[in-house]
Amino acid sequence: MLFDPFISPNPLASSIKVGDIKPDYMFISHGHQDHIADAVSIASQSGCTCIGIWEITQWLQAQGIENVHPMNIGGSREFDFGTVKMVNAIHSSSFPDGSFAGQPAGFVIHNTEDCFYYAGDTALHQDMQLIPRRYKLKCAFLPMGNNFTMDILDAIDAARMTGTHTVIGMHYDTFGYITINHEEAHRAFQSAGINLHLLKIGETLTL
Ligand code: NI
Repeated sequence: MLFDPFISPNPLASSIKVGDIKPDYMFISHGHQDHIADAVSIASQSGCTCIGIWEITQWLQAQGIENVHPMNIGGSREFDFGTVKMVNAIHSSSFPDGSFAGQPAGFVIHNTEDCFYYAGDTALHQDMQLIPRRYKLKCAFLPMGNNFTMDILDAIDAARMTGTHTVIGMHYDTFGYITINHEEAHRAFQSAGINLHLLKIGETLTL
C-alpha cells in the first residue's frame, strides 16, 4: 500500500527511486501537490488500484489511469487485504491547477490482524472520537508539522481520542513552514505515554 506519493519534487526523498515503486494499492487523501505529485506515474507503471474520494478518482481517470476505486466520507469497502473506511479530515483540497478535488479524507484500514488510521492532512477534530467506537487501532499515522495541520500537542490529543498507543508522525520537516523539534516531540509523547516514531526517509518499521 502506498499513501500520498510526494517523492520526485521532494529533495529529502532524492534517494528513493520512483520508478521502482510498484504498490498493489495507492491511497490519496486529498489533491494537494505534496500528496499526489507522483500518483499518476506510479499508478501507470504499477497498474495499482487507486483509492480516493470521487473527485480524486475522476481526476486520475482524466489523466489516463483506469484502475480506480472511488469512495466518499463515511463509506467503507472490502478489498482483498481488508476493509477501508474513509473518514473525515479538516483541511482544504484542490488539484495543482486549482480545480476542486472534493473533500479531504483520512482512512481507517483493518483486517483480522491489523488496524490503523491514516489521517491525511487534518486539524484535530472531534470526529476522531468516533474511530475507537468501532475500531481498535494498532497505530495511527498523524500529521504534526503545525502551520498546515495539527501540531505535536494536537497529535497527542488525536492519539488519545482515537485510542492508539503508537503514532507514526507525518507532514513535518518537508518545508520550512513545518519543521519540528524532534526531541521536543519525543519528550511530549513520552510524557503522554504514547509511542512516537519519526521515521527517516526510506526507514522500515516493524510493529
Ligand atoms: Ni494538504
